[in-house]
Amino acid sequence: MSTGPDGRAGVGVRLAGVGTALPTRTLTNEDLAGLVDTNDEWITQRTGIKTRYIAENGTTTRSLAVDSLRAAIDDAGMQPGELDMVLLATMTPEMSCPSTAARVVHEVGASPAGAMDLAAACSGFVYGLNHAAALIQTGHYKTVAVIGSETLSKITNYEDRRTCILFGDAAGAAILTADDDPARGCLAQTMRSEGSLWGELYVPRTPDDLPESHDGFTGRFNTLQMNGQEVFKFAVTTTQSIIDETLENAGVTPTDLAAVIPHQSNRRILELVKKRMDLPDGKLVINIDKYGNTSAASVPLCLNEKRRAGELSEGDLVLFVAIGGGMCWTTSLWRL
Ligand code: COA
Repeated sequence: MSTGPDGRAGVGVRLAGVGTALPTRTLTNEDLAGLVDTNDEWITQRTGIKTRYIAENGTTTRSLAVDSLRAAIDDAGMQPGELDMVLLATMTPEMSCPSTAARVVHEVGASPAGAMDLAAACSGFVYGLNHAAALIQTGHYKTVAVIGSETLSKITNYEDRRTCILFGDAAGAAILTADDDPARGCLAQTMRSEGSLWGELYVPRTPDDLPESHDGFTGRFNTLQMNGQEVFKFAVTTTQSIIDETLENAGVTPTDLAAVIPHQSNRRILELVKKRMDLPDGKLVINIDKYGNTSAASVPLCLNEKRRAGELSEGDLVLFVAIGGGMCWTTSLWRL
């Protein structure tokens, strides 16, 4: 292990493996037009989404998480028993107790690795990357898996055209492991929240959960309530400012980046960010057309696509960015 600039033993972090899992059923814009008053043209123009995956009976946040983690373990060429810790980011856990993560660890054969669910909505996977990097850099943990797994269809109201067009189900996992090169890993990160804005995006369980003003509440508990326009505006301004801040802190410019991997909320939000950063086509990953908004799973779905396409190499700088309910927003800048 090498010595870092401050004289202590420096621990680098390496991205060892990535895997994803998708349900088998798809729900196209045409299918949705049969459920609510909408059409393919409106959805495509306003969101960029063409289709999304929907979990059928028997497919759960846990089963998708297990499949994605197994794929990531294979990709890393590791054994499940090498995992020290699993962080599972989700806004659709199976139960409040036990954590979904604990059962995932058991099912992949990684017990007694640590296990914890992480609730930061669409920011969850990137929050998880930041936590994993910090855990490994302390030297206390060697190998940490971060999973984003969601079955948003279970909290989607398929009578509400303002929300049901957006969301899909999926999971993605990344395995991070200690590396001898301290220059590798997370170079800069931010994790932020503004809880006063919680009522812009929430899933109420009982009347006690409703905001003082019930404006916009669809009347359906246990489904996602969203003020789309406010979330849109907040996402555009916050994403841009947090990217600027992170790059400045790290002394990095957009041209230094091999890829920007953002949470997939809306194609228009992503195009605005791409334009402002003056990024060429392909550098900011957009795959929302195929999956919709899969919350914590969207960033690892993008990461997996880039990796499988052979478009990421050792030493590349990659910026992850996400924003979601809370509101919570986050960045993570990595040297692979
Ligand atoms: N099909 C057809 N028309 C629709 C529709 C649908 N699925 N959903 C809404 N409309 C209508 C509205 O009723 C409204 O009609 P009106 O002008 O007659 O009242 C019109 O389209 C415009 O609605 P608006 O809400 O202003 O659309 P928008 O351009 O803001 O797009 C979202 C709506 C939801 C796609 C967009 O606001 C968005 O993506 N917001 C961010 C959501 C997000 O990212 N959430 C997750 C955060 S992680």
